[in-house]
Amino acid sequence: MYAHRIRRPELLVRVMSADAAARLFAPAMTVGMSGFTRAGDAKALPRALVERSRGEPLGLTLITGASLGNDSDGLMANAGVIARRLPFQADATLRRKINTGEVLFIDQHLSETAEQLRSGALPAIDIAVIEAVAIRGDGGIVPTMAVGNSASFVQSAKQVIVELNLAAPLALEGLHDIYLPRARPDRAPIPLAAPGDRIGTTAIQVDPARIAAIVITDSPDSPSNVQPPDGETDAIARHVIAFLEGEVAAGRMTPRLLPLQAGIGTIANAVLHGLAQSSFRGLTMYSEVLQDSAIALLDGGQLALASASSITLSAPVHEQFLAHIERYRDRIVLRPQEISNHPEIVRRLGIIGLNTALEFDIYGNVNSTHVGGTHMMNGIGGSGDFARNGELAIFVSKSEAKNGAISSVVPMVAHVDHTEHDVDVLVTEWGLADLRGLAPRERAPLIIERCAHPAYRAALRDYHERALLRGGQTPHLLDEALAWHERHRLTGAMQP
Ligand code: COA
Repeated sequence: MYAHRIRRPELLVRVMSADAAARLFAPAMTVGMSGFTRAGDAKALPRALVERSRGEPLGLTLITGASLGNDSDGLMANAGVIARRLPFQADATLRRKINTGEVLFIDQHLSETAEQLRSGALPAIDIAVIEAVAIRGDGGIVPTMAVGNSASFVQSAKQVIVELNLAAPLALEGLHDIYLPRARPDRAPIPLAAPGDRIGTTAIQVDPARIAAIVITDSPDSPSNVQPPDGETDAIARHVIAFLEGEVAAGRMTPRLLPLQAGIGTIANAVLHGLAQSSFRGLTMYSEVLQDSAIALLDGGQLALASASSITLSAPVHEQFLAHIERYRDRIVLRPQEISNHPEIVRRLGIIGLNTALEFDIYGNVNSTHVGGTHMMNGIGGSGDFARNGELAIFVSKSEAKNGAISSVVPMVAHVDHTEHDVDVLVTEWGLADLRGLAPRERAPLIIERCAHPAYRAALRDYHERALLRGGQTPHLLDEALAWHERHRLTGAMQP
């Protein structure tokens, strides 16, 4: 019945229910699941594990590519399926459990998980659960809308469970390019010199004997939950585009720019949408996630090709994409996240990294992860892979949050994800600060006047002027530097 999707006949007997496959799990196991920003995630096993955990919480260490869809992270966190989670999540329930300490979260650069599995710094995977379009005659597993860490999980796993998703069209086969670096010390350079290069295989190689179960599913990925662009995100997009046009005018880039990376979320998606109105043509993306905006740019002809680790779309764009995959086949490559985010490649290609900050400070340090300095939002994701290693690290943010109770430009960030050494350009709806070649004493006035909301500028100026009196390379009033955050905690607003 499934012969066209399970092309190795002896594997047909491994087809079983998700509940039966869930019995393969034991408490405290380390489990690797496919899924990257809601795309290509296992659909049935998470729910079966929730049932399996009733009466005996499994307390698994769960490693994925990035966030899961279908509320799976929240359901598993509530049921005690997960005790430890890495490297990224974006689920409200799991976030609460992390912030109460019930689930331990290891917030990791997305390129690093595979390295730590390979080196043995992370425990070996007991069971990998991988969503697939098909299993080939040679046993190769063809992933669906994301590659993420799936190839690394399969490489290290004792047992593999394949979720064969009948809703994922067979036409997805051929989109993927699976390449894993060798273990050190015998590592060779990754032979990728242009965003569209194909350097690997189109399926994940596995010894079929390790495929312990095949579970049949039939449901699409959860739609992306990004909000549509608004006046502020449009203004941010205009500033970024004017800046890039200036780079071309100054002869630092050609009109094709350099390969673009855009992070998750509403703002980065809106900036890419803004490129549709720009004069740039022949653009390329070397990113980790392709959102609706990338498909719009491919359709509009601005984008020549896109490389990523996953495709996360809204429901209508998802449907249209799956119906016309042939249109995109030669222009999209899906890779392991270790390769989409690899520092070696990001530096070689000279990526323009566009990521979102929760807040940044007057010297250019960026906090992308910790609300109020203590509470996890989502995680650093791939933003650090690109910011540290790319040609340009651009961070965007609205100037205020929570109806103006929070300024996104603060005297000192309460948690640092990207240091001033990595950050090149900061943008809010008010303007753009190009920090390249500037010392901290030059950066502060620029960031305050260009990026801060006018309601907060006087207070920021006052802070900086008094800090200058104390002197230093990076002048601060350490007794006051985090007072805005503390005031917000105590009174609900950063303004006095
Ligand atoms: N303090 C507290 N909350 C803040 C804040 C701040 N300084 N700035 C923004 N927020 C809140 C917003 O109010 C909003 O809250 P809501 O969900 O309750 O409405 C939420 O953060 C999201 O902000 P939004 O402005 O809608 O931006 P976004 O959807 O683009 O997400 C990040 C922004 C930073 C949360 C998101 O981009 C992220 O997780 N980034 C880190 C990982 C990353 O960059 N990955 C890129 C490669 S995967």
